[in-house]
Amino acid sequence: MIRAAYLAPDGLQDTLAEELRGAGVTVDGWHGLLALSADPPVASAWALDIWTDPQEIPAPSVKAAADALRALQRNWSAYGAAQHRRMALIAERLPPVKARPLVFPEPAPTGHLGAWTLLAPDRMLASATKTSPFVNGECRFVEDHIGPPSRAYLKLWEAWTRLGAWPRPGETCLDLGAAPGGWSWAAAVLGAQVTAVDKAPLDMRVAALPGVAWREGSAFAEPPAAVDWLLSDVIAYPDRLLALVQRWIAAEAAGRIVCTVKFQGATDHAAAAAFAAIPGGRLLHLFHNKHELTFMWQRPGQPAAASGTTTGLPSRASTR
Ligand SMILES: C[S@@+](CC[C@H](N)C(=O)[O-])C[C@H]1O[C@@H](n2cnc3c(N)ncnc32)[C@H](O)[C@@H]1O
Repeated sequence: MIRAAYLAPDGLQDTLAEELRGAGVTVDGWHGLLALSADPPVASAWALDIWTDPQEIPAPSVKAAADALRALQRNWSAYGAAQHRRMALIAERLPPVKARPLVFPEPAPTGHLGAWTLLAPDRMLASATKTSPFVNGECRFVEDHIGPPSRAYLKLWEAWTRLGAWPRPGETCLDLGAAPGGWSWAAAVLGAQVTAVDKAPLDMRVAALPGVAWREGSAFAEPPAAVDWLLSDVIAYPDRLLALVQRWIAAEAAGRIVCTVKFQGATDHAAAAAFAAIPGGRLLHLFHNKHELTFMWQRPGQPAAASGTTTGLPSRASTR
């Protein structure tokens, strides 16, 4: 019996499997990028999406499959790893699910969405609930090809969308490891006051934006000081970044934190677990992340995060 399914980012199947193994979850098989397990669902940082209530449903015909899904609920997103033609015929019989790119700043979809796939021509796997509000975890945006100097701003847009909060005009942001300035650009165009810290200078167009000030320096030498947003895209060992984040949280200096946790070579699952265990925080592999995770945190008392941002799943620690 399949009790949970975890959608791996393409190329990170082994990383997801390692994380699940560490959480005591056995992957019994793969369906494309979907790791299937007979163990109950647990929180996973590396999964793009987690199917939390999968059921195997007979699909003797296209019509029977569509009817079975419609009988469960209205909105379904398809994950196709095989049987593409038959899946398309089933999907045609379901209400269309619009997966248009978001125009940032725009909230994540709030409509209830399930996921389904064909495991075999006559056998579906369908989960009425899943953790990502996006079809297959794919959070796409209408991109800005002119303003930002790199595409790194997309992962910050995605983090803000998942957090359900982004800087308001006049709020202060400290952007650590800011060059060439995609994140600083994203905050500045929202009207925030940005202090960018890096050894390297910002792209000239970002440096010239109103509200942006660049300072040459090391992220790790910055003493915690009151800011609405602490942002970090610094390339650093996860342990070192963890210590930085813990220092800022202990000092009660930042209202909210978004930071990228980057891994080189083997994944440091222990450091990832330590990030995931920080109260008030959330660790996710965003659609725009590569071999990295994004840590998001907000100080207690900040307005609640938007729906779809918490999984309600037991953490790794509590499943041990
Ligand atoms: C991935 S890039 C940041 C991209 C940026 N977020 C953007 O949107 O354009 C990482 C940056 O971290 C900087 N960096 C690395 N170590 C640093 C440190 N100890 N302190 C400050 N910046 C650092 C690098 O110089 C580099 O510019």
